[in-house]
Amino acid sequence: MANVTVIGAQWGDEGKGKIVDWLASRADAVVRFQGGHNAGHTLVVGEKVYKLSLLPSGIVTGTLSLIGNGVVLDPWALKAEIEKLEGQGVEINGENFAIADNCPLILPLHRDLDGLREQAAGKGKIGTTGRGIGPAYEDKVGRRAIRVCDLDHLDDLAPQIDRLCAHHDALRAGFGQDPIDRDQLIADLREIAPFVLQYAQPVWKRLKKVRKAGARILFEGAQGVLLDVDHGTYPFVTSSNTVSGTAASGSGLGPNSTGFVLGIVKAYTTRVGSGPFPTELEDADGQRLGERGHEFGTVTGRQRRCGWFDAVLVRQTCAISGVTGIALTKLDVLDGFETVKICTGYRLDGKILDYLPSHAGDQARVEPIYEEMDGWQATTAGARSYADLPAQAIKYIQRVQELIETPVALVSTSPEREDTILVRDPFMD
Ligand code: GDP
Ligand code: IMO
Ligand code: MG
Repeated sequence: MANVTVIGAQWGDEGKGKIVDWLASRADAVVRFQGGHNAGHTLVVGEKVYKLSLLPSGIVTGTLSLIGNGVVLDPWALKAEIEKLEGQGVEINGENFAIADNCPLILPLHRDLDGLREQAAGKGKIGTTGRGIGPAYEDKVGRRAIRVCDLDHLDDLAPQIDRLCAHHDALRAGFGQDPIDRDQLIADLREIAPFVLQYAQPVWKRLKKVRKAGARILFEGAQGVLLDVDHGTYPFVTSSNTVSGTAASGSGLGPNSTGFVLGIVKAYTTRVGSGPFPTELEDADGQRLGERGHEFGTVTGRQRRCGWFDAVLVRQTCAISGVTGIALTKLDVLDGFETVKICTGYRLDGKILDYLPSHAGDQARVEPIYEEMDGWQATTAGARSYADLPAQAIKYIQRVQELIETPVALVSTSPEREDTILVRDPFMD
């Protein structure tokens, strides 16, 4: 298994960026395969903090970084992020960075629609990141999208723009909005086109070449399996498939290329935005998890909802995504709790469930069944080997892997890249 696929196994923000950055030095290429700049990945290397949304986390180590066709790409967000990282001393050029020329674009009209719908939904809103992700994916499957390769054919784009605008103008009219200014849209695309096109290429071909040469490929997922449009807490999900299988279709390689599937799992649970969350805590423990874990969204700055570890959910996401092993992150946030709880099952209408049912109403009503364990008073923060961990923390890790029926490959004990315990090297498997 030369390749590794990293996915979030909860509701996102599990620490994927940190783990991908740590693994990137062992890889020859890093590929983003779904999502867009709704993602927010924080990397801490010594004194430096990098915040990435669209760029693969491999870019910081200078590893070949590719944006696959499964991503929805906002060209203006891309430019801003590249300029920000270059300002931090990261080198990004045609050698170490490429974008699939068949990526659909996120346009300002997508962001408009995302915002209008959320505003109109009031209390029933999804709580999106407001980046236009949903509307952009809708236009992709609706066969109306403008794609990266179209930027090289702007003189022929009028019929496509007409079709796209006809669709959006009708929706906008429903919200009392003016139609799209087509001339302005084309002028904006003309201005940004050269910047994007300098990186555009058939990424599947680049991957074929590096794979043939024996390269180790690291696929970087965004969001988490519980936000997957099929398997997540629908409709409170994102608009892409976040499961490991998407690594292949979202980059242009076959299903046998995904290799070791590394599920990133926080030692407790968080969620941003609306939707069911069985183990959510609205008490002092929840507040403490949020404060110790600095649980504020990277993209929107929103406070993340916090709760105890839910083994039912992670057992389910590991199964759905074929997770080979997990990286357990933010263990240090549990330091000092007198007792810690793990959800091992749900109660619904007098029955006991060992899985999360599909219906949104049932998901909102399930009651967690907890197992309680003694916490640990010693610190795990900064630990780089099992020998540095208190016995009770090791017990917690063991109980987690037992309940989720999946082994632990890595443990993360601080935001810093090197504060990582390697149990089993995913690239060596
Ligand atoms: P991602 O979206 O999955 O990449 O995760 P985010 O970057 O949005 O959120 C994870 C946050 O936790 C970031 O601020 C990381 O710097 C931080 N982090 C990652 N691993 C650890 C860890 O083991 N311990 C602590 N305390 N923080 C961590
Ligand atoms: P990373 O990669 C956590 C959530 C939003 C909202 C729902 C739909 O940093 O883990 P969208 O804008 O995608 O239409 O919003 O999905 N969401 C995330 N939550 N981490 C993320 O990414 C997320 N990306 C989207 O909060 O509930
Ligand atoms: Mg994040």
